[in-house]
Amino acid sequence: MSWEDSTRQKMLHLKLPTDPRWANIAQMQIEDILTDHAYCEQKAASSCISLIVRFNDLDGLVDTLTPVVAEEWGHFERVLDQIRKRGMKFGMQRKDEYVAKLNDFVRKGGSRMQQLTEHLLLNALIEARSCERFKLLSQQIEDEELRKFYYELMISEAGHYVTFIEMARTYNDPEKVNKRWQEWLTFEAEVLREMEIRGDRMH
Ligand SMILES: [Fe+2]
Ligand SMILES: [Fe+2]
Repeated sequence: MSWEDSTRQKMLHLKLPTDPRWANIAQMQIEDILTDHAYCEQKAASSCISLIVRFNDLDGLVDTLTPVVAEEWGHFERVLDQIRKRGMKFGMQRKDEYVAKLNDFVRKGGSRMQQLTEHLLLNALIEARSCERFKLLSQQIEDEELRKFYYELMISEAGHYVTFIEMARTYNDPEKVNKRWQEWLTFEAEVLREMEIRGDRMH
């Protein structure tokens, strides 16, 4: 199976495809998109750091996520570089409505491992959606350099998506994880359906 095919299959897990108009709207506001994207990378790095601190006793988790932090921060640097070389402004962080809504879906309480499952699935979902959006940008925007850039990042985020899902299945009963994953996917589709499409946000 080619990389494209296997990734398409994985991305099919998302229950609602992004509105096809999004990438076109986004490229008209690329300065905003790049700024928003930079903060997505920062949040990805920060959330991995939080997991490492909170679950310090899980050697496998610490050893797997430590290089992911470096990768996400590397992505941040690369986005910042794209902003700088275009003479654009690295703007302020804005309220991330998408992530805030997903955060509300995190089930409170339960065992420590249940909490871990929730956070790993949350991260997996954001990776999957980012991967889908990067793919659209890599196919649809006119800027050749950014097309290549987003293609590369799509591959990297697809890898992170797999890492989070597999880790969730390692630290908890895989059947329970799969069931909860379906609930997460359904919820994410509802969140996206209710949000207006915006060209100045990655999500
Ligand atoms: Fe990233
Ligand atoms: Fe990632």
